[in-house]
Amino acid sequence: MTMRLIAFMLLLSFSTGGAQAADAQRGALVAQARCATCHYLDRTTRLIGPGLLGVFNRAPSISGVPFARWDAAALNRWLSGPRQVKPNTKMMIPPIRLRDRQDVIAWLAQQTAKHAGAS
Ligand code: HEC
Repeated sequence: MTMRLIAFMLLLSFSTGGAQAADAQRGALVAQARCATCHYLDRTTRLIGPGLLGVFNRAPSISGVPFARWDAAALNRWLSGPRQVKPNTKMMIPPIRLRDRQDVIAWLAQQTAKHAGAS
């Protein structure tokens, strides 16, 4: 695990107000259960929503969101309520609790770190 990733995970656990450090391994399970019906997790191509491989820290591919990039804060806001961010979005999901958000964001960050430079 790189220092940058460790630093990021610390930052994430503070910035989202969680008591415990985010758990990327658990986040993989959350992603399977909560995202994979609509998103490919291991590809950049679209299923119902855009592929999530490499989404962490890249610019949004969708319109109408006020973020320059999908960093931890942006993802946390998006996953806390897509409709609050973009009223007409087609991403309609039941609420995801804080711990699940933290863990899935940590996992997305880890995936981006793993695949960096791989293409
Ligand atoms: C019911 C289907 C559905 C589920 C479940 C879902 N999404 Fe989405 N997601 C979408 C759709 C549709 C869009 C495109 C929204 C738009 O264009 O407004 C989207 C867009 C996104 C984007 C923006 C991607 C980009 O390229 O800009 C991210 C990030 C995202 N979803 C993450 C997630 C994560 C993480 C989960 C699981 C915790 C999840 N989504 C669960 C349907 C879903």
